[in-house]
Amino acid sequence: MRVVLDMDPGIDDAVALLLALNNPKVEVSAITTVSGNVNLKKGTTNALRLVEALSRKVPVYMGASRPAHGKNPPRAESVHGRDGLGDAGLPMPRRSAEKVSAVDMMVDMLKSSKRKEISLVATGPLTNVAALAEREPTLIRKLDRIFVMGGLYDSAVRGNVTEYSEFNFFSDAESADNVLGMSGKEFPAITAAGLDVTSHAACVVDGRSLSMICGIESKAAVLACKMLKLPVLTYSYFNLHDVFALFALTNPEIFATETCSVRVAPSGNFRGRCTVTSGGGNVHICRKVNPIKFNQLVLDGLR
Ligand code: BDR
Ligand code: CA
Repeated sequence: MRVVLDMDPGIDDAVALLLALNNPKVEVSAITTVSGNVNLKKGTTNALRLVEALSRKVPVYMGASRPAHGKNPPRAESVHGRDGLGDAGLPMPRRSAEKVSAVDMMVDMLKSSKRKEISLVATGPLTNVAALAEREPTLIRKLDRIFVMGGLYDSAVRGNVTEYSEFNFFSDAESADNVLGMSGKEFPAITAAGLDVTSHAACVVDGRSLSMICGIESKAAVLACKMLKLPVLTYSYFNLHDVFALFALTNPEIFATETCSVRVAPSGNFRGRCTVTSGGGNVHICRKVNPIKFNQLVLDGLR
């Protein structure tokens, strides 16, 4: 499966990237970066650091340096460390990002690809994806599927920015609404893993699972071990939110999904809050996950 990863690394983005690069069934054609957990420059540097640490040559393209709408985006360096990768001292990259922008690259890639040849896994704010959809509403239909980490679909669960909102959707709520609101058969189906599922208590990395990761002798596991130490030591656990979006592509059998329509409140007190209408639509919300299989896939995937 050919995939473009759109991300804001971030430790959970980073673990998703390591798992994707380590998976022989996944061909990562490109990485695009977006302002989110850290600023665009840092996130882009981080993507390059990880690709080089695994001795790979996947090209990295810079996307939006700020949300399409709204100023002062929130950052998450208190969780991910000052460098966004757990301040683990990963070497700085020798390569730079490509000269072409993320959206220009996606346009070129889609023009030269077959219909449904490429999927997109988006684990940061949806600024780049919305910009692509706005600029090339016909071309984006050539994507097979879009997998998103973002939103909150169970009102019993609190958000991680406001009571109602998850970080990625809060950060650029209008772009999230534009992407999730794409409807109709001709658009690629969207699978969304929201905070209510990605925060599943049995899927966190805690001291015990960190020791298991640190006991694996692969390059990917050594990197994950180094990056995860800071948040696990600070908070006693760490959520692998973004890994859920990758697994929704590679291992859909571990999820129970529901087909819905989703709109996202673009601004105001409820900014980023999702309104879900069940009974058809273009968004497949991950409602449940099998935590045993999830954890096993993380360990096997890093091995
Ligand atoms: C999301 O926000 C970021 O902190 C994580 O990387 C994840 O994409 C969780 O709300
Ligand atoms: Ca992310």
